[in-house]
Amino acid sequence: MLFLDSSDPKEIQEICEWGVISGITTNPLIIAREAGGVDLKQRIAEICKVSRGHVSVELTTETESEMLAEAMQYSAWNPERICVKVPFGELGLRVLPKLVQKGVPTNFTCMMSFNQLYLAALAGATYVSLFAGRVRDMGYDVRPIVRETRAIIEREQLPSRIIVGSIRQIIDVNEALQDGAHIVTVPPPILRKMVWNPRTESTIAEFNDAWRRRGDQ
Ligand code: E4P
Repeated sequence: MLFLDSSDPKEIQEICEWGVISGITTNPLIIAREAGGVDLKQRIAEICKVSRGHVSVELTTETESEMLAEAMQYSAWNPERICVKVPFGELGLRVLPKLVQKGVPTNFTCMMSFNQLYLAALAGATYVSLFAGRVRDMGYDVRPIVRETRAIIEREQLPSRIIVGSIRQIIDVNEALQDGAHIVTVPPPILRKMVWNPRTESTIAEFNDAWRRRGDQ
């Protein structure tokens, strides 16, 4: 499946009309960049209105009690649609299972390695998010991480779904899907590039031109 990695309701609406997007991921950096002073609740409501599936909203507080309160606040906005994104770490590992117990959909995020993804899946996260581009920035091969995580999820029949994010190029999407990602979350500019092919354009132009000129001779 494909998710859209964006917090721009206009862009999300346009692309969701294609019928190929099953969920949305946001993060504090994307929201800060796209809409600095925005009211988060209102922004997320707009995103929910124009999309389908889970909309991931990330926690920004840094103590267990604050994170739990923040998570429950986001979840209350739309319990069916909001998926709480929990930054991975020891603190996250204390918070996330408590949300799972309350039936809140969760996305364990900011992960870079197989061992982190495995712990996240054991903790019961709905989604476990691997940041492919950032792994590659550090000089590591991300492909074995996706393959090995998918294999252990299958072998141990864990319910978590792998999201591969931090997508920088079309080839990242293709490789993640081939390697066993359940979901790739794609930024809008890359999704638009996936549509376009010069040979498709010229073929359509050739067909339409022939149709316009039919019966000319
Ligand atoms: C995924 O859920 C994240 O929002 C995102 O893909 C992070 O990617 P970045 O490396 O472009 O910040």
